[in-house]
Amino acid sequence: MEFSKRILRVQPSQTLVITAKAAELRKKGIDIIGFGAGEPDFDTPDFVKEAAIKALKEGKTKYTPAAGIPELREGIAEKLKKKNNIEYKPSEVVVTPGAKMALYEIFAILLNPGDQVIVPSPYWVSYTEQIKLCDGEPVILELSEENGFVLTAEDLKKAITSKTKVLVLNTPSNPTGAVIPRSELEKIAEVCLENNIMIISDECYEEFCYDEEHVSIASLSKEIRDITFTVNAFSKSYSMTGWRLGWVAAPEEYIKKIIIIQSQTISNPTSFAMYGALAALKDEGKFPAMMKEEFRKRRDFVLNEFLSIEGITCPVPKGAFYVFPNITAYIKGDIKNDIDLVAYLLEEAKVAVVPGSAFGKEGYIRLSYATSMDNLKEGMKRIKEALSRLK
Ligand SMILES: Cc1ncc(COP(=O)(O)O)c(C=O)c1O
Repeated sequence: MEFSKRILRVQPSQTLVITAKAAELRKKGIDIIGFGAGEPDFDTPDFVKEAAIKALKEGKTKYTPAAGIPELREGIAEKLKKKNNIEYKPSEVVVTPGAKMALYEIFAILLNPGDQVIVPSPYWVSYTEQIKLCDGEPVILELSEENGFVLTAEDLKKAITSKTKVLVLNTPSNPTGAVIPRSELEKIAEVCLENNIMIISDECYEEFCYDEEHVSIASLSKEIRDITFTVNAFSKSYSMTGWRLGWVAAPEEYIKKIIIIQSQTISNPTSFAMYGALAALKDEGKFPAMMKEEFRKRRDFVLNEFLSIEGITCPVPKGAFYVFPNITAYIKGDIKNDIDLVAYLLEEAKVAVVPGSAFGKEGYIRLSYATSMDNLKEGMKRIKEALSRLK
């Protein structure tokens, strides 16, 4: 049996591989501290769970429209207007099973073989693989640690070719925590308009910005809005990763095409889960604001710990819940690369982190600080001890 060329080009998600490996060791009774997971350690709020339970009891358990229940499309459009300052009609919003599927659907409606998509690196693991799954060509645009891994319009110009069709923006960024300031976003938007490039703006971490405001690129002007897909989810903001609910907002002609995909693949996002999401929208950001204050304390702690380790540099992550330290000073002897260092930390420190190479950047590791302060303190102590043994 011959598999499709498409699937043979694609790698499994490295972050999920590490999480699974740590879980396996834990099952054997080994005390592993996990810094791998990309999800808040808080439980989904009760008011969200209760709304979904109520929906279940009321029999909201059948197929819904492929684009999601109308109330939720309306609620998301309203939120985008109030919080993000972008005008979308409910018909310009589609509810998806998570942001991940939203992104896949966008690539699927836009890309033809050979179309190039600019992906600033370090990048979230799924962009490149999804682009390949849709027969497109990811073009990796290297960002520099010196500039805090923030994309600039000047960087972008250098990566554009006659085949460039789309730019992927992710602010705040997974894995670096970089947040693109408004002034730079304005310049990036201009470059995209001048070069006829569509923008996918992945704003999954918008609620977690510590030192810089979050700006949705689509809010900058009507012209920009019309070339942008604004992607977001309830996953991180309301600690609803397992619920699988996200959305895309874009001009209606694009949304209609995404709805065709949903109607022929998933049928609809899970009915009762969408009622939980409606309750999350009514909270108007209070729950994520509470998480953000906790994350801020943890970020400050982890960042200071890393900066106190000899040879390590680390840009200040201004958003999301990750730190991305440069560990090249510890790549020597038997440790040939970041993957070896991650294996060493798992074995010697019993700490699970993700290698930078999973995000297209060798010589770094990514730690998620979406875990308790106790875990962070113990984990950092173990990392420091294990690294000091390498000196
Ligand atoms: C940048 C980014 N985009 C999208 C996603 C996917 O989100 P969801 O769980 O809603 O599919 C993640 C999850 O880790 C992410 O980090």
